[in-house]
Amino acid sequence: MKAAIAVLLALCAAATTGLVPIKRQGETEAPKVILDNDWGPTDFILVLMALASPYQILGLTSNTANSWALQCSLHALRSLQLGGLENCIPVHKGTDYPLLNTADLQQSWEYIHGALPWSGAFAPMNMTAEAAGSDPTDGNPNRIVPSAFVDGKAPDLNQLNGTMAAAFMVDMVREYPGEVSIYAAGSFTNIALAIRLDPTFAQNAKELVFMGGYIDTNLLMVTGSANEADINSDINIKIDPEAAKIVLTADWQNITLVGNAANSVFLNQTDLEEIYNVNNSFSQAMMQYFQAYFPLWDATALAVMLEPETVVTNSTDFFVDVDVAWYSPYYGNVRASQQMYAPKGQTLRSVRYPFAVDVERVKELVRDAVMQPGSCEDN
Ligand SMILES: *[C@@H]1O[C@H](CO)[C@@H](O)[C@H](O)[C@H]1NC(C)=O
Ligand SMILES: *[C@@H]1O[C@H](CO)[C@@H](O)[C@H](O)[C@H]1NC(C)=O
Ligand SMILES: *[C@@H]1O[C@H](CO)[C@@H](O)[C@H](O)[C@H]1NC(C)=O
Ligand SMILES: *[C@@H]1O[C@H](CO)[C@@H](O)[C@H](O)[C@H]1NC(C)=O
Ligand SMILES: *[C@@H]1O[C@H](CO)[C@@H](O)[C@H](O)[C@H]1NC(C)=O
Ligand SMILES: *[C@@H]1O[C@H](CO)[C@@H](O)[C@H](O)[C@H]1NC(C)=O
Repeated sequence: MKAAIAVLLALCAAATTGLVPIKRQGETEAPKVILDNDWGPTDFILVLMALASPYQILGLTSNTANSWALQCSLHALRSLQLGGLENCIPVHKGTDYPLLNTADLQQSWEYIHGALPWSGAFAPMNMTAEAAGSDPTDGNPNRIVPSAFVDGKAPDLNQLNGTMAAAFMVDMVREYPGEVSIYAAGSFTNIALAIRLDPTFAQNAKELVFMGGYIDTNLLMVTGSANEADINSDINIKIDPEAAKIVLTADWQNITLVGNAANSVFLNQTDLEEIYNVNNSFSQAMMQYFQAYFPLWDATALAVMLEPETVVTNSTDFFVDVDVAWYSPYYGNVRASQQMYAPKGQTLRSVRYPFAVDVERVKELVRDAVMQPGSCEDN
């Protein structure tokens, strides 16, 4: 469907305005993506951005990072329901726990090395925050907090697809070898499991694009506000460092690490007013839940995937490793090397690292997506 529409549009546009949807060279079919995320109340932005692009969304998968995979999978469902998309895009719940990490281990680590500005699902329970609409934290992966959902009601669990996230990823990459982009904006647990379930998974995917893995942000964590410290620290890799190491050392054809560059992208008051001028279910949800004091992390990473040529204005490549020593204060942080100094005793992968992105273009993609939301026909 999407391929046919894209071709038609391309033909019409080429004949009239010269505007052609951005497609990568040599592709005849719509490019495909699985969106793996610790979904929250306004992450429908990602779904809408992908719908507005030539990409076809094969499914949404949830993981445990900001909150537990179950709550996040219900946010994914509600995101779809806001636009009647639940019948054409499946939601697959991911695994509850990281490979090794637990709330107890996380809190012990913080006791020794210092508190993280944000501990995600492993933060102690905070009933005040939950009453105000925050997602559940603490040691119980099965707890659902309805007040975090638009309308104050959690969607029906039975609408989740019964296939676990990792198995779904494996199935899709087997069905479309070389065609599926894996977009990751939470922990790496599901993707690590997919790699271990099927040793050909990473090689047969098209690429991995992920949000997380800041480099050298320590100074920024100590010279600003608590929010500054939060913005410059990363829970995505930190909550499951072992999974991150499995994923970032797997034999992908192409890895893009979107880290520090995303911290420059915020929606400001003017952007929000423009969005709120349009009254649809998504803009209404944004009005209620959007946290403008955080950068557009996940949307920036997705924009880098959707339009690498226009969105990335300056990039480099280097090899990355993940610190998996629990006793290290850098446990769950990325370490980068240039080729001549890359470790010889293990096989690391080279990643593409955007230094900078076209902030205006990312914001435009976000605004347009929410103001003119796509439907099932656009997938
Ligand atoms: C709990 O959440 C509230 C509201 O977000 C916040 O003000 C408070 O500091 C939190 N308490 C703890 C112990 O983190
Ligand atoms: C679950 O998702 C798979 C893969 O998209 C699909 O083939 C299957 O029909 C879905 N099952 C249900 C019950 O929706
Ligand atoms: C990896 O992806 C980037 C962005 O799409 C692209 O510019 C680059 O050519 C790709 N590299 C390979 C080896 O496919
Ligand atoms: C918001 O950002 C846009 C550019 O993206 C700028 O034109 C506008 O003046 C900014 N508004 C505020 C209130 O800072
Ligand atoms: C937006 O539309 C809804 C109905 O869908 C209506 O109840 C609400 O008052 C409208 N809000 C604004 C700000 O116009
Ligand atoms: C790209 O970013 C790097 C690191 O900030 C900087 O050294 C370099 O000059 C930049 N290149 C361009 C063309 O802006």
